[in-house]
Amino acid sequence: MSQLNEAAQALKRGELVAFPTETVYGLGADALNPEAVCSIFKAKGRPNDNPLIVHIARLEALENLAVNIKPDVKKLAENFWPGPLTMILHKASIVPDETTAGLDTVAVRMPDNAIALELILKSGVPVAAPSANLSGKPSPTLAEHVLEDLNGKIPYIIDGGACRVGVESTVLDMTTEIPVILRPGGVTPEMLQQVIGKIMLDRSLTERQMVDKPRSPGMKYTHYKPKGEVTVVSGSESGVFQWINTNTGMDEKAGKKTAVIAANEHISFYNASNIIPYGSIYAPEQAAASIFRIFRDCDINGIEKIYIEAVPKKGIGLAVMNRIEKAAGGRIIRV
Ligand code: TXA
Ligand code: MG
Repeated sequence: MSQLNEAAQALKRGELVAFPTETVYGLGADALNPEAVCSIFKAKGRPNDNPLIVHIARLEALENLAVNIKPDVKKLAENFWPGPLTMILHKASIVPDETTAGLDTVAVRMPDNAIALELILKSGVPVAAPSANLSGKPSPTLAEHVLEDLNGKIPYIIDGGACRVGVESTVLDMTTEIPVILRPGGVTPEMLQQVIGKIMLDRSLTERQMVDKPRSPGMKYTHYKPKGEVTVVSGSESGVFQWINTNTGMDEKAGKKTAVIAANEHISFYNASNIIPYGSIYAPEQAAASIFRIFRDCDINGIEKIYIEAVPKKGIGLAVMNRIEKAAGGRIIRV
């Protein structure tokens, strides 16, 4: 535990610490220290119009960071914190512009990971943390992934093993009359509805075309991309098997290294030389936990063409498909 103390002291001094959360690894800095926050953007190569999430360990910390907090915010916090829910709130003046990219709102969440909570508590400061990857790369779900991207650029990485959830938190705008999901994640729309009733999905999540100005600035960037070209294929099972087999066959004839990422139950239907199971078709949480690691493994193995079976957009499947569709850019095939 003395190492955790050391990392907490470093955070307090304005240094960067990568740490595990239940979703993905975060790259933390004191959220109230503008210089510390700027060094996050520098280490990641992150565009500075993309605001950060502030992580807290105790509900009381919320009162310092936000103003005009609605009763529904407290209700959601009681139900889902610690956990993969980020709420957008009106910011208090203490939060610097560097943290919120100049917005008058602030994103706050309480992570469900014992190391993260202890680190935040010991540092005594709220911790601004984006995912601890280089901007544009898949989010890290293992400490090794953080090392791959940021080795030599940051002083501390705390290894907490594999992240349980595997995709980033749900981002929910609580400043609008009806709350809006800006990014789907570990807490599903169904779970939120059960607690506060009506919620909406942001336009950028329901429209096929890119929205000019998404309300969550981070959603406009091509994220989560492995180096290989990603194609998502959905439709009838037999149609998907046939389409993917035809295409991997042609690619492999042309000398391309291909991989198929598919449900456990379907792997025997494919002919490609690399077939990677993402988990059971009946348990989308398995795909969530594995997808970013699979993308990184594809890079390590020099895969040039990646074909993924669509995951049903139910429960956390909505978040998984959001990340996969982003990785695919426009290459979404319906057969
Ligand atoms: O699970 C997670 O949320 C992880 C772990 C480390 O907590 N963090 C994470 O942070 O995914 P990041 O920076 O990769 O994504 C934050 C998202 C971005 O899409 C950003 O634009 C959005 O939250 N966001 C942050 N502050 C916002 C604000 N005030 N208004 C709207 N969107 C905001
Ligand atoms: Mg990120």
